[in-house]
Amino acid sequence: MTALPAPRIPSPVDAPALRWGIMGPGRIADVLARSLCEHTRQRLSAVASRSEERGAEFARRHGIPRVHASYEALAADPDIDVIYIATPNPLHARCALLAIEAGKHVVVEKPFAMDGPEAERVAEAAARRGVFAMEAMWPRFLPAMDVVRQVLADGLIGEPRALVADLGEYFPPDPQGRLFDPALGGGALYDLGVYLVSFASFVLGGPDRVLASGSFTDTGVDAQSSIVLRGPGGRQAHLFTTLEGPTGTAATITGTAGVLRLASPFYLPGSVELIGHPDVAGASRSAEARFPQARPDEGLCFEAAEAARCIASGAIGTPLMPLAETVDIAHTMDRIRNELVKDSMSI
Ligand SMILES: NC(=O)c1ccc[n+]([C@@H]2O[C@H](COP(=O)([O-])OP(=O)(O)OC[C@H]3O[C@@H](n4cnc5c(N)ncnc54)[C@H](OP(=O)(O)O)[C@@H]3O)[C@@H](O)[C@H]2O)c1
Repeated sequence: MTALPAPRIPSPVDAPALRWGIMGPGRIADVLARSLCEHTRQRLSAVASRSEERGAEFARRHGIPRVHASYEALAADPDIDVIYIATPNPLHARCALLAIEAGKHVVVEKPFAMDGPEAERVAEAAARRGVFAMEAMWPRFLPAMDVVRQVLADGLIGEPRALVADLGEYFPPDPQGRLFDPALGGGALYDLGVYLVSFASFVLGGPDRVLASGSFTDTGVDAQSSIVLRGPGGRQAHLFTTLEGPTGTAATITGTAGVLRLASPFYLPGSVELIGHPDVAGASRSAEARFPQARPDEGLCFEAAEAARCIASGAIGTPLMPLAETVDIAHTMDRIRNELVKDSMSI
């Protein structure tokens, strides 16, 4: 083998231009807005903030013509096609339902909802209203992930048997901060772990058994967790996430015919390397695809472009991040949290 499959993801700049509204102009909304302005033809048409001043400042920074003083007003804006929801985790479902009931398509930041039942309610509302809904699980939409998708689908590493991946960052403890405050949906699992759980679902499918052990911060959110997701036939994902320090953030997928390595950070890999298991004569094969080491603001445009293509074509979901899978992942997250709580009570 000399080459891996080429990515099939169209250039974000070619996606049909839609009119976007932004709900919750915080840190990640800023990154998305920059990404859209620099790499797509999408139009940032309106922003809604709880604070007129913050909304106006965000609008000025990104050249957005309309500022709404409430999320309700943005949902009711007739000149918007799709709303990007970038509020703290516990508000995702409420904001998504507001937009959906007003007939707007939605792209909802990760985690899509706080738990499985909440994710189901949003998915059902979108289906009932006939609008597009997608979790902004941005690694799914990157060209590098499409190489992984094809390697797995084409059986180039045989049957995937195991995934080992980690995602840790250092966040200085701040009891009032979004990441440490339970009321704002803090914790490593919601913020970082969801990328791992989603990637495990992408590689191995959903688990039939969930094991987890972890520790909690003084504020009561999960600080770090080791997670094992066991799938049919003994497949295993071995995941680690933490708020307490940076980790290697690489990922290795082991299959019956070879191994696929995603260079750090695995969710934005600079390279994807396939190393075949040696054959009976001891020969092995390898191939590598390299990608420009993109920054997040260069990567977020891919999710928006996919949403725009799907919405323009009349689709209410994307096959790259199916809503049913998002709901399943939310249920898996519930099971992990239950395990973490049981584990903490056993200490
Ligand atoms: N895709 C990624 O790489 C990525 C990275 C980081 C975060 N995220 C996700 O994006 C979401 C937002 O994260 P962020 O880091 O951008 O947060 P952030 O900077 O705190 O921004 C959140 C925004 O939500 C609005 N908001 C509404 N109710 C709020 C409340 N009760 N408390 C605080 N803010 C409230 C605020 O805007 P107004 O008050 O102006 O309305 C605020 O600017 C989270 O769900 C997170 O998981 C995704």
